[in-house]
Amino acid sequence: MSEVTDSNPSLFYQNGANYWSEIPATLDGMLGGFANISLTDIKGSKLLLKQLFNSKKPPGRTCALDCGAGIGRITKFLLTDFFETVDLVEQNATFIEQAKRYMGHKSNKVGCYYTVGLQDFEPESHKYDLIWIQWVVGHLTNEDLMEFLKRCRNGLKENGVIILKENITSSNEVELDRNDSSVTRPMYLLREIIKKADLECYRVTKQHDFPKGLYSVYMFILKPKMSEICDELVCQEAEQTCDNGTISEQAALDNSEEVHKSL
Ligand SMILES: C[S@@+](CC[C@H](N)C(=O)[O-])C[C@H]1O[C@@H](n2cnc3c(N)ncnc32)[C@H](O)[C@@H]1O
Repeated sequence: MSEVTDSNPSLFYQNGANYWSEIPATLDGMLGGFANISLTDIKGSKLLLKQLFNSKKPPGRTCALDCGAGIGRITKFLLTDFFETVDLVEQNATFIEQAKRYMGHKSNKVGCYYTVGLQDFEPESHKYDLIWIQWVVGHLTNEDLMEFLKRCRNGLKENGVIILKENITSSNEVELDRNDSSVTRPMYLLREIIKKADLECYRVTKQHDFPKGLYSVYMFILKPKMSEICDELVCQEAEQTCDNGTISEQAALDNSEEVHKSL
């Protein structure tokens, strides 16, 4: 992936933690100065969840996990509207403390706050209906991301899903940001890691209406391999095309060129 992440992962993690320790615990801080995209982001995510819950075998609505939660933006504006309880995992203790305040009356829906890096975090077995992972996996090495996804897989209940929402490069190469010690991956690499984690990617949807100049952002619905959850959703979505930025896994496999073109 890169000299920094592969040969010295602990330095990569330390630099990442140092970077975030200097960032204010605000919406703007969480979104790199783009607090104004939060509403659009949440709107796109809500649409995806509504479609997921309209499928024949939807996940339950008992418990979700917000990974790399920061001050709890996603928990507050998205997950608490869909789930009885939401747990947060975030490595920065200041963000966790702020999350407790930021959550306001929604805090009664928060279960556990875990202050730990995702590279060291193990979700409780079969606890979660949904695990949301957004704008954080660039801080994990390829190997640690794969292992983390495996542990998340084990953290899912029946019909549970993982949703990964992440920036994707258009260069088809890994791009390293030395400033915040993170990488942005191309689509093919993320798919490779997902596959190695024994997960199947049942739907990939592009987030629309973000300002030009930002990375393209994709939402991946992932489920354990061999499971039958979401099958009906796949069939529905297979009929959609890349025109609206929505593709199914099968369509993606059949039209991988188109997928890359749309990046
Ligand atoms: C770009 S912010 C996104 C926050 C939140 N997901 C959102 O979309 O509002 C990235 C977050 O990931 C956290 N983070 C960075 N590296 C991490 C790691 N290795 N484990 C857990 N969290 C991490 C940062 O502290 C920060 O809160």
